[in-house]
Amino acid sequence: MSRRLALLLAIVLLTLIPGVAQAREGPVAGPTGIGDPYFPALGNGGYDAQHYAIALTADPARNTVDATATITALATQELSAFNLDFAGPAVLGVEVNGAPADWDRRERELIITPSASLPAGEQFTVAVRYAGRPSSVSGSSIPMLVGWTNFGDGVFVASEPYGAMGWYPVNDHPLDKATYELRVTVPAPYVVAANGTLHETITSADGEAITYVWASRDPIASYLVTVNIGQFAVMHEVGPDGLPLRTYYPPDHADAVAAEFARTADMIAFFSDAFGPYPFEAYGAVVIDAALPFALETQTISLFGRNWITGTGAAEEAVAHELAHQWFGNSVSLTRWGDIWLNEGFATYASWLWFEHDRGADTLDQIVRRIYGQIAEDQAGASSALPLSSYLPPGDPPPDALFNGGVYLRGALTLHALRLHVGDEAFFAILRAYYERYQHGNATTADFIAVAEEIAGGPLGDLFDAWLYAPALPDLPEMGLSAALPGAQ
Ligand code: TRP
Ligand code: ZN
Repeated sequence: MSRRLALLLAIVLLTLIPGVAQAREGPVAGPTGIGDPYFPALGNGGYDAQHYAIALTADPARNTVDATATITALATQELSAFNLDFAGPAVLGVEVNGAPADWDRRERELIITPSASLPAGEQFTVAVRYAGRPSSVSGSSIPMLVGWTNFGDGVFVASEPYGAMGWYPVNDHPLDKATYELRVTVPAPYVVAANGTLHETITSADGEAITYVWASRDPIASYLVTVNIGQFAVMHEVGPDGLPLRTYYPPDHADAVAAEFARTADMIAFFSDAFGPYPFEAYGAVVIDAALPFALETQTISLFGRNWITGTGAAEEAVAHELAHQWFGNSVSLTRWGDIWLNEGFATYASWLWFEHDRGADTLDQIVRRIYGQIAEDQAGASSALPLSSYLPPGDPPPDALFNGGVYLRGALTLHALRLHVGDEAFFAILRAYYERYQHGNATTADFIAVAEEIAGGPLGDLFDAWLYAPALPDLPEMGLSAALPGAQ
């Protein structure tokens, strides 16, 4: 036997003996990020969170919580330590598999060192007790605080992209989706509206506290987890195929809510036809009793400020947009935040598809011309190429302009260009195949392009490169640039 072969054999044998292999490598701490180049500190490695059970008592008047988050996870490597993302209040104690564990906090990381290392491939639980005031989270990618927000007479949670860590310890990245049980206790008569299905409502013996137990059947990305505390009324309806619809709203807003959401069931039916079956166990909305400049596609229960819901139909586009995210963004989730156009471009185009379906092809044509003209005009004016120009190519938005208008509008036009290029039949087959393949999972832009090329039966690299990455706004197939420029119509 040659010396080299003997050495190789010795190494193989040594690694087969567990004790020796461990002495050679040893358990290591899990990575402190999940590997998203846009946000290197977001998420963590070394484990896969499967379920979060969050028991939380909230005092809306003082804006404090007293909570225990119990996370069931699978170790994907042998772990001497692992991290959770957490920017919330004081940690009171951490247990791993029921035994006290050491912990430390550094910036937005909670570093947990169990008393014994966790074997690769095994399930473990980590329970974190914490109390105090949840923080809204600031960051560069969106010019506002995200996460737990107390607006005076209640709380809403809108976390995209990194606000979840402000109110519970979490592997805070859409790559690690998990199911949730949210057990939230509030003073009577507050109501809690959260994701999934309301399983139980428990009133305390003295009648002063109510516990709402919400649970989700399907995995949720952390930024889509929401807990809303308010003096809500609730409207129950039944959507297509018996889908439960529930809408929580300020009681003085009943008529506007009924009118503004009147088309929701029709939209669900249309999108289910176009994309595939509605992904989750329920849908509906929560209308916050405050003016909010945004809406958010929180899973199974989209979130709107009361200002959106006027009853005039003015929110129809947003209502369709947030609903469409349940397929694109929520069920098919991002793998990295840089692919955000897969959420926003798709939801925006889906709302245009709804208008086309409901009002006819001319309506879509008008929208496309208007938006194309708007972007073209912006580009003409911004010839000095301001980095934060509002309609950047959607494919690689700067981390500090993640939600710029290009992601939404040029992202939607990208899908329209694809549709004009491959024809309606192939286009809708592409959307359906993409959804079917990646539902309840994660996808990348490359995954979408691969599905599109597979179904179109040819390369589409040039089209996607031009629409997603090139600074110049491409011509739309069958529509010259000049025809769409303002003044040319
Ligand atoms: N995804 C939202 C939409 O387009 C926009 C959004 C991004 C948002 N980050 C947010 C809304 C944070 C509320 C809070 O529908
Ligand atoms: Zn959106």
